[in-house]
Amino acid sequence: MSSGNRFSLVSLFLGIALCRLTHGNQVVLLDTTSVLGELGWKTYPINGWDAITEMDEHNRPIHTFQVCNVMEPNQNNWLRSNWISRQAAQKIYVELRFTLRDCNSIPWVSGTCKETFNLFYHETDEAHGVKFKPAQYTKIDTIAADESFTQMDLGDRILKLNTEVREVGPITRKGFYLAFQDIGACIALVSVKVYYKKCPFTLRNLASFPDTVPRVDSSSLVEVRGACVDHAEERDTPKLFCGADGDWLVPLGRCVCSVGHEEIDGSCVACHPGFYKAYAGNIKCSKCPPHSFSYGEGAAICRCEKSFFRADKDPPTMACTRPPSPPRNLMFNLNDTCLMLEWSPPSDTGGRRDLTYNVQCKRCGPEPERCQLCEEELRFLPRPLGLTNATVAVVDFSAHANYTFEIESLNGVSDLSSFPRQVAVITISTDQSGPSLVGALKKDWASPNSIALSWQQPEQTALPILDYEIKYYEKEHELLSYSSTRTKAPSVIISGLKPAAWYVFSVRTRTPAGYSSYSPKYEYETTGDSSDMASDQGQVLVIVTAAVGGFTLLVILTLFLLITGRCQWYFKAKMTSEEKRRTSYQNGHVPFPGIKTYVDPDTYEDPTQAVHEFTKEIDPSRIRIERVIGAGEFGEVCSGRLRTPGKKEIAVAIKTLKGGYVERQRRDFLREASIMGQFDHPNIIRLEGVVTKSRPVMIVVEYMENGSLDSFLRQHDGHFTVIQLVGMLRGIASGMKYLSDMGYVHRDLAARNILVNSNLVCKVSDFGLSRVLEDDPEAAYTTTGGKIPIRWTAPEAISYRKFSSASDAWSYGIVMWEVMSYGERPYWEMSNQDVILSIEEGYRLPAPMGCPVALHQLMLHCWQKERSHRPKFTDVVSFLDKLIRNPSSLLPLVEDIQSLPESPGEDMDYPMFISIGDWLDSIKMSQYKSNFMAAGYNTLDSVARMSIEDVRRIGVELIGHQRRITSSVQTLRLQLLHEQEKGFHV
Ligand code: ADE
Repeated sequence: MSSGNRFSLVSLFLGIALCRLTHGNQVVLLDTTSVLGELGWKTYPINGWDAITEMDEHNRPIHTFQVCNVMEPNQNNWLRSNWISRQAAQKIYVELRFTLRDCNSIPWVSGTCKETFNLFYHETDEAHGVKFKPAQYTKIDTIAADESFTQMDLGDRILKLNTEVREVGPITRKGFYLAFQDIGACIALVSVKVYYKKCPFTLRNLASFPDTVPRVDSSSLVEVRGACVDHAEERDTPKLFCGADGDWLVPLGRCVCSVGHEEIDGSCVACHPGFYKAYAGNIKCSKCPPHSFSYGEGAAICRCEKSFFRADKDPPTMACTRPPSPPRNLMFNLNDTCLMLEWSPPSDTGGRRDLTYNVQCKRCGPEPERCQLCEEELRFLPRPLGLTNATVAVVDFSAHANYTFEIESLNGVSDLSSFPRQVAVITISTDQSGPSLVGALKKDWASPNSIALSWQQPEQTALPILDYEIKYYEKEHELLSYSSTRTKAPSVIISGLKPAAWYVFSVRTRTPAGYSSYSPKYEYETTGDSSDMASDQGQVLVIVTAAVGGFTLLVILTLFLLITGRCQWYFKAKMTSEEKRRTSYQNGHVPFPGIKTYVDPDTYEDPTQAVHEFTKEIDPSRIRIERVIGAGEFGEVCSGRLRTPGKKEIAVAIKTLKGGYVERQRRDFLREASIMGQFDHPNIIRLEGVVTKSRPVMIVVEYMENGSLDSFLRQHDGHFTVIQLVGMLRGIASGMKYLSDMGYVHRDLAARNILVNSNLVCKVSDFGLSRVLEDDPEAAYTTTGGKIPIRWTAPEAISYRKFSSASDAWSYGIVMWEVMSYGERPYWEMSNQDVILSIEEGYRLPAPMGCPVALHQLMLHCWQKERSHRPKFTDVVSFLDKLIRNPSSLLPLVEDIQSLPESPGEDMDYPMFISIGDWLDSIKMSQYKSNFMAAGYNTLDSVARMSIEDVRRIGVELIGHQRRITSSVQTLRLQLLHEQEKGFHV
């Protein structure tokens, strides 16, 4: 067909708005719709593709290439783009928009007209100019139209525009050409767009993440470390993962605004004057505390006003304070031996609570300006400095003296103030009594417990000496206590002292006018000789008696407290977790003695407590996320690696809780971890730990290379030996035995909730489902409002929510059936309602094809209506162990009825189908009724003898249907045999 005969399609495109999606994550390398000048693409040969440029209503060019040599055979027309730089792309996307003419709508072209064209590319580091060698080009794909148009469409001006996108990669050279090969079609190429995808620059958690090009391998992610925005600093390393489609996934870590800055709309903004922020973190700037201010922007701390201070240990959030005013109402009380000073606290504490007092003593002679400090001479009780009570006792003062006491109030900022201190002052004269001092105190002798002292009597006294008072104390315990004794004579024997101890003595006289001041202090030591054994023993006896008495008292007191209930808290605390265990025994489960029992996290008032108790917190820096492997109800599930110091790095699966969750979702999410963390068994998925202290919240479990059992079996249909399958079932049963021994009822045991590792070890997973059945796509609402996976659930659990280990045993039977049928759907496409009804009527799943009789019998045993008749998991494990030890027991298949070892149990409730039609209805194969009838199969007996060849021969073509019918035939055979054995005639 000559170019003159070509359809002029361009005009049809005029006025069509080419609606383009511009995604933020696409980087466009070429878009023919936005090229304003000539495109300059090459065509080979010259009379093949035709470039047509027309203008749209905005006077922008529309570049179209068309070719329509449908009448001429052996077409090979090439159109080559200009060289396109790949920039950062590793994988490119080519989006083509074109129309294609339906060959049937063009008369006389059959044989020559084609409805496809080919897309090629060629990578080079530079442009080749006009050189074009088709052999250098690699084919991307043959492009066919989803919709081609006819002459009639043309007449009606109906345009059927096709859009096709192809991925090409990895691209490694600097650029590439695209080429379009026409082999005899009628095509108009309306636009070509070439782009690559990137995860666009983004700000997340105060960190910026640059434009990132995804990996070519669509299942692996690029880990990108974010840079904190200005005035922010890292908390946990901020990371994002760039997915193949240019989406950012799984944000980890974060930055926080530095001191003096707060977060506003994703950036860190300086605090305004009058505000401050002292710590880096997700907190807002605060108003300056009282008596402080900030003038500039971005204050980390507010400065104190004049005369106000902040002590070293004061937090920046605290108001500035000042020293206190002086104490008020200072008074004294003097008696013979003691001067009590008392005062009231200051009227202004300066805004602080750390108020103390210092006492200073001055002794002044007749000229007041000649005062000297006298603290050394006196004793202050409890001490002269740092008093916390507004009182002090002064002893050992002289009788004829004027003392001036200055009491100063202080607080934590007193030392910072340069203001002169203000004190309360009192002057006291002790000149109240007459007699003067006695002379020196001499030691006459000493023993281990006694010291004899004597002194000179004063020579002349105005008043008669009534007696002497001797004050003494053990030097080591100076401030604790002292003793005194009186004597009329100028000598005394002080006894009851400790051996080899230093004592301090002083003495004063008493006359009718009162006491003299004390003599200076004298220090004497008792001897170390322990001749005074009797008294020492006496002391020991006293101590022992006191100790025994004290202990007895303690015992009595404890008993008393117990009886009066004061110790109840102790017992409560002790019993709480035990009680929790008790309340956790589900459905009257009595745990085995010595076996740990499961504690329901819901029995904790605070569920985080359960998380703490049963899980380990993992530092997120130990986790490396590698790829997304699925999506759970709460967020993505990823695979990755976990490092533990001193241990080998291990593969893990990481469940994440996506952002924006509410507290209830976090609790439900972590609930599973609190449950899993209580288990430790090779057939239960192992919890490695949780991340709760940083975002995102994660649950980290061991990685199971082969994923969930149902899909694993579907992908490997027929690949395993019966022994391997029984090995998997044994593992699941062993895990379930452990759970039931712990008192845990799973409620959603199904092959989809079993995970398989690289050694084919099966582990039970998906816990915490009493709530989270929401998460199971199989769970459907029952008439009683519960959400239950009907096909896997025992009748009593469906009808009145009676979940127990026995209902788990029913589900286990279904899992057996799923395993032996390589992931077939239980009860196939029957509706949930039909499943419930047929079970109620006694129907049970037939043995899958190739299923050993022994295993189908075990399944039937698990599906007994009466739940107490179902096997316990411990029975299941030992039964399977026996089969594994004796593999010949697995040889008789259900289809091989001659060698049945024994008939099914007495109370096995097999359905008896009255007619072939009923039977086919029950297995949803009603469409083959006529095939059976036409082939002469009109009794159940004859059907029971059918082989798979027979099933094929009567016209059942679909393999799935052949399988379903054959496995049901096997069960039918088994039932008939059973009935015959029981004496029925069929
Ligand atoms: N999917 C969910 N959990 C998994 C695990 N532990 N291993 C592998 N795939 C999983």
